[in-house]
Parts: sequence; structure tokens; C-alpha cells
Amino acid sequence: MIGIDALGLAVPDAFLPLAALAARRGVPEAKLTAGLGLHAMAVPSPEDDTVTLAARAAASALARGGVSPGEIGLCVVGTETAVDHSKPVASFVQGLLGLPASCRVFEAKHACFGGTAGLMAALDWIRAGSARGKKALVVCSDIARYGIGTPGEPTQGAGAVALVVSERPRLVAIDPETVGTYSRDVMDFWRPLDRSDALVDGHYSVECYLAALDGAFDAHRALVGEAAARPGYTDRFAAMLYHVPYPKMAQKAHARLRARDGDDAPEVSFEAKVRASLALPRVVGNVYTGSLYLALASLLATSGGRDLAGERALFFSYGSGCCAELFTGQIMPGAQAALADLPAALTSRRELTVDEYEALFQARDAARAPARAPSGAWPRFLGVEDGKRVYG
Ligand SMILES: CC(C)(COP(=O)(O)OP(=O)(O)OC[C@H]1O[C@@H](n2cnc3c(N)ncnc32)[C@H](O)[C@@H]1OP(=O)(O)O)[C@@H](O)C(=O)NCCC(=O)NCCS
Repeated sequence: MIGIDALGLAVPDAFLPLAALAARRGVPEAKLTAGLGLHAMAVPSPEDDTVTLAARAAASALARGGVSPGEIGLCVVGTETAVDHSKPVASFVQGLLGLPASCRVFEAKHACFGGTAGLMAALDWIRAGSARGKKALVVCSDIARYGIGTPGEPTQGAGAVALVVSERPRLVAIDPETVGTYSRDVMDFWRPLDRSDALVDGHYSVECYLAALDGAFDAHRALVGEAAARPGYTDRFAAMLYHVPYPKMAQKAHARLRARDGDDAPEVSFEAKVRASLALPRVVGNVYTGSLYLALASLLATSGGRDLAGERALFFSYGSGCCAELFTGQIMPGAQAALADLPAALTSRRELTVDEYEALFQARDAARAPARAPSGAWPRFLGVEDGKRVYG
């Protein structure tokens, strides 16, 4: 058995309600809340970046799992909002967490797929025997930014999800032999090297996502064999988790997948199999690489009285450009209790006005010297000195 042993989440301590954004931009509130399925988006302060969020999520995952830094033999950070063209976020995380010198560290980039690329590398590393008793730390960390006034603006967000991957998973055991892969060279979402905001062909990106879902599902079914070819194959999954750029996208994906599986009323299974996974994405927004794993955290933390122990789940990961994978796993006993406190951590976040959000958005682009008196949560991005990023 190999899979996810512990999970840590880090989100910025401020958020913008989308009702306020809708009012300021002159769009109907229902377009954002019902049309996109969003309620709020996390807004990072200038002292937060991909590194600080990654380090905080990673420290939380280790603490929750009772894992010491010395037990980590592989650390991969999946991100599409890296802080440097050469030095990986994983090296900063290694330094901040005190991971051992014997640890392999690197960054994985493929838009929102980078975290899953890291997870698959970790699973293969353990299966191949290279772990030699050690565990892997896979961190998905991003700040989703599109630009003020653009159609993508309400689908921003920020956050990191860290996964400890081991041979004795306490959250989810993953089936590595039926991972269905689909990739294609498309131009649906990209960020040229000199830009801090992403460029996106929004409606085309929805088409590419759904085409990749079809392709990855076909690839998965071919690996599973005859049982997966029969209509109703996905009935066996108690939960179906999707990449969530915004919750409505997961709803569209579910309708597509279930229609292909012979279900002509997918809204019924949506309530039972998908709804709980969207509770946290709905109030955090898009976290790019971490979004599928935020959906997993949401499922486990908000399924309430429904016992998922031993139940099977389906996972779909998509990264623009594009690469997608569809895989399955089994939820372990105790997984829900282990993450039950996650939603409460979000209730202490500070609500911003649109003016405050816009000021923070602009401040992110300003170069600055390290702050003299850092405050707040560990770690903080303090500024740039001699071309080097400083954390404290
Ligand atoms: C997602 C995105 C394309 C939407 O952009 P948009 O053109 O402003 O929005 P749309 O006109 O498509 O409206 C969005 C939804 O709200 C619905 N809507 C519009 N007005 C509404 C209203 N007053 N009440 C309720 N729903 C409304 C639309 O019908 C649509 O739903 P549908 O897709 O189920 O038909 C844009 O936010 C974007 O580019 N996001 C970033 C890229 C991304 O996340 N891609 C996803 C795949 S990776």
C-alpha cells in the first residue's frame, strides 16, 4: 500500500467576499456565486509568497503526521508561480524546515498539474525501492493571479497543500497501476517569463479541461479492463474529486464524466459524491496545483456524519498546456477525524474591502528591501537583498 499519509494546508489570513467584487465590477452577484460557484477568494499579503505558503503547509503536514524532517528523503514542490527561474521553491522549503542533506529536492512545473506530477514521482520513488524506509513530502503551492478587471479575476486565490507520502498511508491509499494519462500541446493558459499575471483563453481552457477528462478517463478505463467499460462503473466511488479552478468547473466535469458513464441525471450523484469536496475551494478560490488536494481535504473535513472509511474515491487532476491524470484510491479509517479541524482554521481570516484587495494586488509587484521588524506567522517573505530573497 502506498499513498497519502498526512496533509497540511496553508492559506493567507485575508479574503475578499465575491459579492463585494461583483458590486464593484458591476456584474450580477449570482454570476460569481451561482455561475462560478464561488463565495470568497483568499488574498495573500506581500509577506506571503509561494515559499512561505509551501513551508507553512509542509510544517503542518509533518506535525499532523508526527513525521520529523529527518524522515523525509524526497521533497518536491509543484508550482506554476515559482519565485525564481532557477532556484526551486523546494530548496527554500528544505532550508526553512531543516530537511536533511540526503534529501532529493526539486520543483515540478506543469501549470496546475505540477503537484500531481510530484505525487506520481513520490509514489514511483517508493514503489521502485529508492525510498529505503524514508517518506516523501509533496507540496503544491501557488498564488493564482489574473489581473484586475479581467474575466479571470474572480477565479483567483492562494494557498498550499502539503502531502506526506509513505508506504503506510493513514489518509488515502492510491492505486498506482490504473493511473490514466492524457496530454496534448494546447495554448489555453500560460504565463510568459516576464509576466506576473497569467494569460488565459478562458472558454477554450474549459473545453481543454473537458477533453482531457475524456482522454484520461478512457486511458484509466483501458487499464482497469472490462469492469470499467460497463455503464455505471463510477457508481462504486463514494467520492469523485476534480481539479477545481472554480467549483462550477467541477460540477461541469462531473456531469461530463457521469454522462459518459451512462448517467442521465448527474445532479443526484453530484450531491452525494462531489458537493462536500467543494466547501473549502468555494471560500479559498483557485490554488492551482493544490486544488485537487484542497478538494480532498474538503471532502474529508466536511463530510460530517458520513463514514467514508474503506470507501473508494476517484481523482482527476488537470494542468493547462496540457496534462491530466485520472486515478483512484481508498480512504483509510481515521482520515476524516485527522482533518476535521481544517474548516475552523479558516474562520479567523480577515475580511478585506475591494480597496484593500486592490492595494495588496498592486503591492505584490513592488520590489522592496527586507522589513526590519517582521511580524505574524512563520515564515514571512521579508524582501530582496543583493538579489536574494530573504525569509524570516
Ligand atoms: C471561467 C471563465 C472563463 C468565466 O468567464 P466569463 O466569460 O466572465 O463568464 P461566463 O459568461 O462564461 O459565465 C460564467 C458562468 O456564469 C453563468 N452566469 C452568467 N451570468 C449569470 C447570472 N446572472 N446568474 C447566474 N449565472 C450566471 C454563465 O451561464 C456561466 O455558466 P455556464 O458555464 O454553466 O454556462 C473566466 O473566469 C476565466 O477565464 N477563468 C480563468 C480560467 C479558468 O479557470 N479556466 C478553467 C479551466 S482550467
